[in-house]
Amino acid sequence: MADTPVKVGVLISGRGSNMQSLVMASRAPDAAYSVAMVASDKPEAAGLAWAADQGIATFALSPKGIGKTAYEAAIDAALRDAGVEVIALAGYMRLLSGDFVTKWSGRIVNIHPSLLPLYKGLDTHARAIAAGDDKAGCSVHIVTEQLDDGEVLGQAEVPILPGDDADTLAARVLTEEHGLYPRILTEFVRR
Ligand code: GRF
Repeated sequence: MADTPVKVGVLISGRGSNMQSLVMASRAPDAAYSVAMVASDKPEAAGLAWAADQGIATFALSPKGIGKTAYEAAIDAALRDAGVEVIALAGYMRLLSGDFVTKWSGRIVNIHPSLLPLYKGLDTHARAIAAGDDKAGCSVHIVTEQLDDGEVLGQAEVPILPGDDADTLAARVLTEEHGLYPRILTEFVRR
């Protein structure tokens, strides 16, 4: 008999296309994980409405006015109440505190649009083009206290083509992200 799927909580800040690809993959009959909750620091995030439409539990709270500690405590409680075992960051634009990361130590993963360790932080595609690189890509990694650090679990590469700008490259990388993240999350929850 198949093992019970591991309950994943997905944290987003916006569009949520990676979250959608994680949800779609979780609907396979033999999926290793299920998406138990989608949470956001941006109540207006488009991805939240999509998740709610799909019947997935959602949680939204802005840290503005309440501070990071209270905000993270509330997210932590919501995720635990939903039975979440592993957190997947998917376009979540906030740095989690050391306390939060310690509580979920080794159980938070992130997708970053570069071939780590290259280009941590923002504007990854513009930086790769400016550097004259001939390839770019995305990485899924374990989250630590340091930004875009932690063990890399898997990567996908794309070429940088003549005439690329940050938008055309981002679109090419995003297509790879949508395949990479569900595959690596599946391997991660099974390991
Ligand atoms: C993705 O490129 C992801 O790698 C980065 O932010 C973007 C989020 O896109 N961290 P989406 O919200 O998943 O569509």
